[in-house]
Amino acid sequence: MREHVLLIGGGGREHAIARALADSEADLYACAGNRNPGIAEIATDFETLETTNPKAVVEYAEDVEATIAVIGPESPLEAGVADELEAAGIYAFGPKEADARIETDKAFQRRFMRENDIPGCPDFETFDDMEAACDYIDEYDGDLAIKPAGLTGGKGVKVIGDQVTAEEGKEYIQESDYDRIVLEERLIGEEFTIQAFVANDTFETSPAVQDHKRAYEGDEGPNTGGMGSYSDATRELPFMTEGDYEEAVSIIEATVDALEDYRGILYGQFMLTSEGPKVVEFNARFGDPEAMNTLPVLETDFLEVLTAARDGDAVPELEFAEQATVCKYAVPEGYPTDPEAGAKVQVDADSAGDALLYYASVDERDDGIYTTTSRAFAVVGLADSITEAEAIAEDALAVAGEEGLDMRHDIGKPDLVQQRIDHVNELRGE
Ligand code: AMP
Ligand code: GLY
Repeated sequence: MREHVLLIGGGGREHAIARALADSEADLYACAGNRNPGIAEIATDFETLETTNPKAVVEYAEDVEATIAVIGPESPLEAGVADELEAAGIYAFGPKEADARIETDKAFQRRFMRENDIPGCPDFETFDDMEAACDYIDEYDGDLAIKPAGLTGGKGVKVIGDQVTAEEGKEYIQESDYDRIVLEERLIGEEFTIQAFVANDTFETSPAVQDHKRAYEGDEGPNTGGMGSYSDATRELPFMTEGDYEEAVSIIEATVDALEDYRGILYGQFMLTSEGPKVVEFNARFGDPEAMNTLPVLETDFLEVLTAARDGDAVPELEFAEQATVCKYAVPEGYPTDPEAGAKVQVDADSAGDALLYYASVDERDDGIYTTTSRAFAVVGLADSITEAEAIAEDALAVAGEEGLDMRHDIGKPDLVQQRIDHVNELRGE
């Protein structure tokens, strides 16, 4: 029987998943809170529903006779959508609520690493008493990262010595109404992401990606969900050695071994420090934007991964094209603090030239596609080098214009990549 794959979520990441399945021997059905025109074009049917409501998702899955589900974002994982799908007899490629705590509960995640002796764990303490947390900041010898334990869309972390002073950090703790926080050693280095495809106690990793969380060029401004990202034609990034990549993979391996029957994507966010890779966080899903770097170069049929996972087999060996990728998001002007919605999107798949176009939070009207208050669309260039891939992405952004949009032109440019290399060399004392 032809597989019926249900895709849950409506962002750029899910558009990339939809495209990875577009040529597979499967019918794709999709549901999300927003109507994503890119996904809707590929899917046999698209339903708008609340994806954190497991009953609504299961009802739609049963209506379309889904044989496999893929869960894109973290919020349905936290809401137990994978558990409810399984209870209804539908395999979900995405962890159950308890396993998703590796992302949704940062205190759990750190304790899990400590209890299982997983390498790469920074020094940390967890607090539910905010006074005690402030005392700890006063007494701690060194800078700390302040992390709310729950989900904050990547925007809740404050790093002392980087974004805030110790005094501002304490004020932040006292003024926010978080009930649990983690205080951990500030890691200094360069960040990179490795996404692992996990099922049946086996896993396969994909090339490293570097995301850019800060809103403005030169890594200035507030944190965002991610403004853009790049990967190289090799598994590692220009500032890493093969050994750094392998060390990060061994951390992922120890984590997969310690988790029982985890399935889905395990996203490791690492800091390459002077002592090697350390874990900044784990996510229980593909990254957004990182999925748009990884899935376009995945040459193995993603459907094969999904069916192997469901059927109890090992994750098939993954083949990736040896191409560099650069992804850049266009966001509404003023994002993320004061976003102005309603700009018309002036680029489409045909006018994007050699770049791939992925829609995220947009509003499709009779006369065109408009921005909302979140990341709007992304363009991705693929080429032999990061520099060439960057130029392809920039050509597509030029078609889009800048009217009502912000974007980071610096992502993937030779200058910025060189700064990363210099930074790591400096940390290593080279
Ligand atoms: P997270 O939500 O855990 O991904 O954190 C958001 C961002 O905060 C990360 O991408 C890092 O840039 C930064 N961050 C988190 N933890 C640390 C840490 N221990 N040291 C330095 N920076 C951190
Ligand atoms: N790009 C960061 C994330 O998906 O969490």
